[in-house]
Amino acid sequence: MSAKRPVIVYGASGYTGRLVCEYLRELNIPFIAAGRDAARIQAVLDKVPGIESADYEVVAVDHDVKALTALFKGASVVCNMVGPFIKFGGDVVEACLAAGCHYMDTTGEQDWMLVAQEEWGAKFAAKGLLLAPCIAQMYTTGEIAANLCLEKPGLDTLDILVLWKGFPTYASTQTIFTILKAKWYYLEQNKYVEWPAGSTVEVAVPGQHATALALPWGGTSHPVWFKNDPRVANCKVQGGVFAREVMQGVVATQKMFEENIKPLPLAQQEEELAKIAASIQAAMPPRENPRQNTTIDSVYASGPLGRAHCVIHGNCNYKQTGLLQAYAAYSLLQAPPKKPGFASGCQAFGHRELLGVLKSFGLVMDPVLTVHG
Ligand SMILES: NC(=O)c1ccc[n+]([C@@H]2O[C@H](COP(=O)([O-])OP(=O)(O)OC[C@H]3O[C@@H](n4cnc5c(N)ncnc54)[C@H](OP(=O)(O)O)[C@@H]3O)[C@@H](O)[C@H]2O)c1
Repeated sequence: MSAKRPVIVYGASGYTGRLVCEYLRELNIPFIAAGRDAARIQAVLDKVPGIESADYEVVAVDHDVKALTALFKGASVVCNMVGPFIKFGGDVVEACLAAGCHYMDTTGEQDWMLVAQEEWGAKFAAKGLLLAPCIAQMYTTGEIAANLCLEKPGLDTLDILVLWKGFPTYASTQTIFTILKAKWYYLEQNKYVEWPAGSTVEVAVPGQHATALALPWGGTSHPVWFKNDPRVANCKVQGGVFAREVMQGVVATQKMFEENIKPLPLAQQEEELAKIAASIQAAMPPRENPRQNTTIDSVYASGPLGRAHCVIHGNCNYKQTGLLQAYAAYSLLQAPPKKPGFASGCQAFGHRELLGVLKSFGLVMDPVLTVHG
């Protein structure tokens, strides 16, 4: 290993970047906290309790391939927190490839995952490097639940629900609106099928009597991860936040997008959506509280003669995400990924391993797993 600190958190001044740094400190991993504004990063990190015991440095970097490559050279892993990733991810992936670093981000954007897989998957695999967009609560925790169900052979259909309670950050809100202009897919008999515009579902939420309003939420990551998994032929996902009024707001915006924004040229669509997102969330949400910020990942898996249901009750979407990123980096410093190239969290690190990590930090309960057939 070179003298350079081996892990780079890009976008360390953000809500999630800070949490990745916090968990890297707890795992004793030296890191570089990078981003476009060193003073802002330092101000954020200065508020992390115990940060004086972390081995880190703050580095300012321009968002372009050349500058990012120069920063990444000599490091091993990049955790990219600068989203929406369909907008900003490509330059960071290119720089990782040039510098020979593993790439991870926290996307939940299906369109970005498809681009990343198509454009860079084989190139990363050829170098033995991991390309893992979406190591995050949305959707790694649900992927863990799906894999627990799939331990029973003979199940080929996944019906997934992912919900969390909390306030999306600035970049999360930008991301939620950016995905409105993408095509959203589910998986049917191993083929991508486009969701009709404006699809919503009233879902039964495990563990409570009230239902919730959910959306295919950009299609999510699961159909992409399970497309080439011989166990799974069908995969549909619903997701969102618990607050019905927030979901109703997203549905109204979706309708307004179809009517007023979709006819505009693509660049202008992006601009209009970014403006709406900024008007909704401009400030940093409060730190998560496990008594308020709960999460549910529920998977029904079925086959002709078998069924399984797995529910993972957890808390703190953003903390789960920070921990998953930090653990993945920690793991990559000691062993190669189980699957190089384009891979999910479970494919690269194992679903039981990731579950154990989330549990050991108090972020999820023991899964509730029922299996029949
Ligand atoms: N899937 C999940 O479960 C999950 C969970 C958490 C987060 N996320 C995703 O992760 C991403 C980050 O979220 P967050 O909560 O950390 O958001 P955030 O608090 O708004 O932080 C965004 C970060 O990106 C940086 N940034 C923004 N525009 C940039 C640009 N043009 N060039 C360079 N840096 C730029 C910001 O730097 P400045 O401080 O300089 O503005 C900041 O460090 C979002 O896309 C979000 O959707 C997903």
